[in-house]
Amino acid sequence: LQHLLGIEPLHPQSITEILDLADDYADQNRSRARDSKALAGCTQINMFFENSTRTQASFEIAGKRLGADVMNMAMQASSIKKGETLIDTALTLNAMHPDLLVVRHPHSGAVDLLAQKVNCAVLNAGDGRHEHPTQALLDALTIRRSKGRLHRLNIAICGDIAHSRVARSNLILLGKMENRIRLIGPATLMPAGIGEFGAEVFHDMQEGLKDVDVVMMLRLQRERMDGGFIPSEREYYHRYGLNAEKLSHAKPDAIVMHPGPMNRGVEIDGEIADDLNRSVIQEQVEMGVAVRMAAMDILMRNRRQAAKEAQA
Ligand code: CP
Repeated sequence: LQHLLGIEPLHPQSITEILDLADDYADQNRSRARDSKALAGCTQINMFFENSTRTQASFEIAGKRLGADVMNMAMQASSIKKGETLIDTALTLNAMHPDLLVVRHPHSGAVDLLAQKVNCAVLNAGDGRHEHPTQALLDALTIRRSKGRLHRLNIAICGDIAHSRVARSNLILLGKMENRIRLIGPATLMPAGIGEFGAEVFHDMQEGLKDVDVVMMLRLQRERMDGGFIPSEREYYHRYGLNAEKLSHAKPDAIVMHPGPMNRGVEIDGEIADDLNRSVIQEQVEMGVAVRMAAMDILMRNRRQAAKEAQA
């Protein structure tokens, strides 16, 4: 593993390796026993071409906790605004010899393309509708810590599946780990070719949530809907918004997840989101730092090992 561009190329063993290390980092973070300097001497550049709160902040904290020098590129103030291309920007930064580039971009495939042009580790922080691998990993760690396992669970992913890179990465990861996935949402928000993932599709929340262990809600991504059918928020909440009645169809100990940012009263009732007996939304944020620490640590170890082998 030299880059983290998506979940698709990862073997289940690599996923477990990242989660095991992240589990240790999560315990260290919680107890404030943060003594690893795995990224000391490394330069990490964060390039976010789309807005972010959780992902950008947690990558920055993760790098700093491991001793990296972290730079957040202010993309709005960069020469991108003067017409410089993504690739020229990446080549310019590459010439300054960073060790890690963390990239979020609105276009699917942009991060893969960039990774082919630079000679440092690249981490995909979300590209268009394609993948958001660290989100799926942090979701997996949250599930594993809550449920004690990451296999043979019934997991419902609900809402705007069509526009969601979070749904795509989770579908791939949770499928690789042999869980049973249900996708719930209106037909207009299901992507074409959804059958290839082997998930069951439901258009009725009560039916789809029956006896699930995990309820993963998604944000309605209006910014990615280009003129297609957009339900009114009131209608959407009525049919697909998670409230106590709909949640009562899941198992009594089912956990509620949301990657954030949340639209309270659209895809989820605020009381459900805040109910710490069911909601693990804040734990997802907490696991985000640990997973990003683990991913960057492993990538840098692999790169050092590859460099050593190349010299030998
Ligand atoms: N979940 C997620 O990617 O959130 P941000 O857009 O705030 O980074």
